[in-house]
Amino acid sequence: MARLDPHSYYDSEQPRVERLSLIARIDFDRRILDGTATLHFAPGAHGGTIDLDTRDLTILKVTAGDAAIAHQLSEKDPILGTRLRVQAPASANSITIEYRTSPESTALQWLTAEQTFGGEHPFLFSQCQAIHARSVVPLQDTPRARLRYDATITVPAHLKVLMAAAQLGEEMRGSEKISRFEMNQPIPPYLLAFAVGDLVSRELGPRSRVWAEPKVADKAAWEFADVDTMLTIGEKLFGEYPWERFDVLVMPRSFPYGGMENPRLTFVTPTLLAGDRSLTNVIAHELAHSWTGNLITNADAEHFWLNEGWTVFAERRILEALSPPHGGKEASAIDAALGRRTLERAVTGQFKDHPELTCLRTHLTGVDPDEAFSEVPYEKGYLFLRTIEEAVGRTRFDALIHAYVDRFRFGTITTEEFCAFMERELPGVLMQIHSARFLDQPGIPDNAPRAESSRIDAVESTVGKLPGATASGWTPAEWQLYLEQSVDRATPELCRALDEKYALTQSGNYEILVSWLELALRAGHAPAVARTEEVLAQVGRMKYLKPLYQALHVRSPERARALFARLRGGYHPIAQVVLEKALA
Ligand code: BES
Ligand code: ZN
Repeated sequence: MARLDPHSYYDSEQPRVERLSLIARIDFDRRILDGTATLHFAPGAHGGTIDLDTRDLTILKVTAGDAAIAHQLSEKDPILGTRLRVQAPASANSITIEYRTSPESTALQWLTAEQTFGGEHPFLFSQCQAIHARSVVPLQDTPRARLRYDATITVPAHLKVLMAAAQLGEEMRGSEKISRFEMNQPIPPYLLAFAVGDLVSRELGPRSRVWAEPKVADKAAWEFADVDTMLTIGEKLFGEYPWERFDVLVMPRSFPYGGMENPRLTFVTPTLLAGDRSLTNVIAHELAHSWTGNLITNADAEHFWLNEGWTVFAERRILEALSPPHGGKEASAIDAALGRRTLERAVTGQFKDHPELTCLRTHLTGVDPDEAFSEVPYEKGYLFLRTIEEAVGRTRFDALIHAYVDRFRFGTITTEEFCAFMERELPGVLMQIHSARFLDQPGIPDNAPRAESSRIDAVESTVGKLPGATASGWTPAEWQLYLEQSVDRATPELCRALDEKYALTQSGNYEILVSWLELALRAGHAPAVARTEEVLAQVGRMKYLKPLYQALHVRSPERARALFARLRGGYHPIAQVVLEKALA
């Protein structure tokens, strides 16, 4: 028996599923997906016991060929869900499972028309990372079990269904629309993704378009106009783009993340639509995952830094190659400084009493990946890679990146495999930079490089004070750096002066707005409260919800909890759980 992933029932000695054929009908009235999943085994399968991951699925029937076969469901584990154990006959090279999802599926958010921009049609989307695919379809829900898939999805005729896959065709049948998709490259199950709603598209370049509700489509096309340039830069860094297309889907406001790198179709929060292209680093980030994450995947959540650390590194390289003001060397350095600040806050705040959670190599048996989520794998992972780059120089490091992609493409990787690879390619360098300080020891190693730029110095010289004339030329990232560094040092007087001069409470840029509101709430600036309550009713991005609820909670626990009780139903199921824990 070999269960390698602490978050999956997958047993590597059992037949592995290498292709999924999914037929699904989406029922907005019952908030249910009725599915038939055929799981095809890798060649050489010999039948026997097969353990699959499920969560809140009703299993109606399991068959092999035409014969029903025995299956058992385990007790539900609060983190892993329910193990579905199937006995496949030796001759079977596939099994078929008829099932339906629950309205409480943790991967799905069913939105009413009022929760969309258009206000006329319902919306449904999936979010499977890290371990939610199992609440949409029964499968071996671990990155170690990559699979290809095809899907036939039926939705109400007036809605559009998109998948993170190639669309093969669409046909009307009465009041319904049937769409067919195919993903012919093997993906980790957490990248299975779809969305259904009133969606239209705009072309961005030869390999990309943006999808959005009609109301925001033009704005999105303007905001994301640089996508094609980013693709070209990404290819220089990592080699040929492996997924053919890079489309972007603008989600409704409740989307719980900034972006999600679903292959061929990145999902993004509408809070990126700032009107000045200042937040497109999130697009660069999700694009970078096309290589680091989607092509080379962390083997399980304990090695998450290999996805996110590499991706932040690549994001900042892409940003560096774009033009100012939001791209270029300075802009990239400012983002790195912001990242370091975020990491410092995580180390000294969130994880003060749990320093072990600030190691890159984590141990997550019995821990829900959604709860373990933090900025540490992103920013400490980034610093680890930067430290190596500094040690060997950019030219050698860039060659290493290409070797890394060649070696691990369409594979999964652990921290140990990464270290063995590094030792082979750049012998001695891990020892030289004291890699254990990054991987197995808490905190920020003092040999990690600091981002340097005169603009960072200028911002830092005004921290905790009212900035002078230079602030009128600050980019949103510089404002954010100022606010993040000032958060523990602001007085109500400073807040009043800042708000009078720069109208921060009215900012249309969510990164500035949320950093400002957190600072202002903590300083006791009264006008921030009402604006925070508005923001909490408007967005579902957890990066914004968490600090704002926490800052409200410091002021008044009752008020924060009452507000959450009122707004909770509008948040994504994952956000509901995470916030509940944060406010407990
Ligand atoms: N893959 C992540 C989002 C994610 C992580 C979803 C873990 C579920 C579990 C995505 O690539 C990401 O990191 N998004 C960031 C973007 C930022 C770092 C530029 C976000 O959502 O804020
Ligand atoms: Zn990411």
